[in-house]
Amino acid sequence: MYRTHTCGELRISDTGKQVTLAGWVQRSRKMGGMTFIDLRDRYGITQLVFNEEVNAPLCEQANRLGREYVIQVTGQVNERFSKNAHIPTGDIEIIVNELNVLNAALTPPFTIEDNTDGGDDIRMKFRYLDLRRNAVRRNLELRHKMTIEVRKYLDSKGFIEVETPLLIGSTPEGARDFVVPSRMNPGQFYALPQSPQTLKQLLMVSGFDRYFQIAKCFRDEDLRADRQPEFTQIDCEMSFVKQDDVIELFEGMAKYLFKELRGVELTEPFMRMPWADAMKYYGSDKPDLRFGMKFVELMDIMQGHGFSVFDNAAYIGGICATGAAHYTRKQLDALTDFVKRPQIGAKGLVYARVEADGNVKSSVDKFYTQEVLQQMKAAFQAQPGDLILILSGDDAMKTRKQLSELRLEMGNQLGLRDKDKFALLWVVDFPMFEWSEEEGRLMAMHHPFTHPKEEDIPLLDTDPAAVRADAYDMVCNGIEVGGGSIRIHDAQLQAKMFEILGFTPEKAQEQFGFLMNAFKYGAPPHGGLAYGLDRWVSIFAGLDSIRDCIAFPKNNSGRDVMLDAPGYLDQKQLDELNLVVDIKE
Ligand code: AMO
Repeated sequence: MYRTHTCGELRISDTGKQVTLAGWVQRSRKMGGMTFIDLRDRYGITQLVFNEEVNAPLCEQANRLGREYVIQVTGQVNERFSKNAHIPTGDIEIIVNELNVLNAALTPPFTIEDNTDGGDDIRMKFRYLDLRRNAVRRNLELRHKMTIEVRKYLDSKGFIEVETPLLIGSTPEGARDFVVPSRMNPGQFYALPQSPQTLKQLLMVSGFDRYFQIAKCFRDEDLRADRQPEFTQIDCEMSFVKQDDVIELFEGMAKYLFKELRGVELTEPFMRMPWADAMKYYGSDKPDLRFGMKFVELMDIMQGHGFSVFDNAAYIGGICATGAAHYTRKQLDALTDFVKRPQIGAKGLVYARVEADGNVKSSVDKFYTQEVLQQMKAAFQAQPGDLILILSGDDAMKTRKQLSELRLEMGNQLGLRDKDKFALLWVVDFPMFEWSEEEGRLMAMHHPFTHPKEEDIPLLDTDPAAVRADAYDMVCNGIEVGGGSIRIHDAQLQAKMFEILGFTPEKAQEQFGFLMNAFKYGAPPHGGLAYGLDRWVSIFAGLDSIRDCIAFPKNNSGRDVMLDAPGYLDQKQLDELNLVVDIKE
């Protein structure tokens, strides 16, 4: 037997027992004739003691152990003289009488501690060592627990887990595909699923009624803190449901997960906010509602007073930061620089402080009388001590998005985005289509299988841009944690959708014939949703990036620096696959 106990298991009640432990040397200290070693495994840390006076050769052997050596020790559990209240095994130590080195170790390139001295790059290169650290391991433990609870919840609601293939054709979700060449079909490629969307719909045609899958998805898109090229969805689909049925079931799941994994009871129904309101009041389809700062539009009040920037704007709007009038000129200049960053793209920032006497002092005082500024103050219901920040621009949607960035930044600066607070909502009534500048055509906002709102179907012929979809996203703390929709189950309506999206009937048949044909064989009305597992785990763990809850993530250039992937293929492999590599500058 390698061990009788783990390193996190022994307590004072075990005193006197002869035990064998195995693990890694976390650190060792020599004090006089005594050597103390912290032995670590996944479960915890146990202190080992070697006494020179009792057994000098053994103690000498212990003194030669380096950090991260893998060892096995046998000894007696002893009550500790100076106890360590910070760890569960802190009341005991092991008086070692036998030491066995199972494997030596090179000195790790960074310390395996909670506050490691290793930077991001080195930790990713040696991810297997990074995963030894408590913080990272705990995230994976939480992820494990979450998948268990997800399976329990969905099983209790009658869902069946079905695996769908990874080598499929393209499933458009708005990103580029990762493709895999087929050796047996020269010149042809599989695409890895961006999601199992079409397959889960086919399972509904098959009569599975309630499906789920913890599904790997692949999207070749630019990476951000909440995006990885390879990520995991809790993917679900249900038959004979309307939007309310889907929302209710998955709101129940979110509440269940909060209770089981965070001990948080969410009793109220989540708010449902129409997409148009989310954009109007927060400039975002995923508003962070942990704090207010709702947008106030100021066109009526601020235009026509000779300030040409505002007079020529298509949108003027602002936010009121409660109690932030103390912001110095320097801080306000920094905020101006923030909104002018190329990624945000505002031209400038106007600010106004509400002073103790109620007067408003603004950066554009020369254009506005105190009377007008008071009207503005009233529009925000601002109080003495508040700071009003205003943006304007010639494109309302763009300006709202800029204001949204400013709102989030102010939320950060004022400490309003507390990671232990959770604000959940559904964003509903999304537009069916959005205009793509790049493609020069309408694109599906969710995906082409989304059902238009029944009452908007006539608009498909006359004003498709105005059509709203039976689509819904769940948002938590400003992060889209899930999205879904009621689907089209009628072959003709699906064909029409492809037509609006610019597919010729031949192209639609070539790419999606399998689905439209399936709909002709008795497709039930159906709908579903997919949660982002990585995003849920990172919210529950209070992480800034989903990378930290993925065992082996990719870096911002989509590389796995540990595996050094992607890499080149050798000529033999290329020949077998009939591939010629021609890299264009
Ligand atoms: P959607 O594209 O909204 O919908 O994806 C569902 C959820 O998956 C998560 N997600 C991601 N997580 C990490 N990295 C990424 N690159 C990434 N992309 C998406 C998000 C998102 O809310 N087939 C539909 C679902 C449906 O309609 O049922 C779909 O994939 O949390």
